[in-house]
Amino acid sequence: MHLSRRGLQGIVMKPIGPLMREHRLIERCIPVLTSQVRRIRKEKTIDLFIIGTVVDFFRTYADRTHHGKEEEILFRSLATKALSPEHARVTAELMDEHRYARSVTRDLVAAKERYLQGDAASLAGVLSSLETLAGFYPKHIEKEDRHFFSILDYFTRQEQDAMLAEFSAFDRKMIHEKYAKVIESLEGLP
Ligand SMILES: [Fe+2]
Ligand SMILES: [Fe+2]
Repeated sequence: MHLSRRGLQGIVMKPIGPLMREHRLIERCIPVLTSQVRRIRKEKTIDLFIIGTVVDFFRTYADRTHHGKEEEILFRSLATKALSPEHARVTAELMDEHRYARSVTRDLVAAKERYLQGDAASLAGVLSSLETLAGFYPKHIEKEDRHFFSILDYFTRQEQDAMLAEFSAFDRKMIHEKYAKVIESLEGLP
């Protein structure tokens, strides 16, 4: 029995296991987004703490940690396989979608900054970015869960075990990367 591919109950773990678990956490952020949309529409103000937390979640968890494993490990490994035209097309599409999610989060940050500087019109930008993220992630996740993760069939059991180990190593470095960035941003303050 290879420890890296067995979970607590001794169930054989596949590399999609951690990715799907992360999808479930990202999904839990969607009601937070929609409740902020409702709040902003009603009160015409932004809860800067919640928006800041949401931005950090999408940047550090959904993008760097989750899309990071997909792009730097799963997609990179797929690039070594002779993919069907359909799988090659969907892989490229998913990469585009990751870039799109990054740009929407950047727009959200920019609108939040304008709000901080007193630009009342920035509320519309915050609202539209929150609504876009709330619409984007469930569709992206469904595409991967239901229509893409069968691509694991391209990999042998040994290759899947190696990928799981790479995922773990990737996750281990995230907390250090995150707090190095936190300190760098604090050092940049006057
Ligand atoms: Fe993805
Ligand atoms: Fe994903």
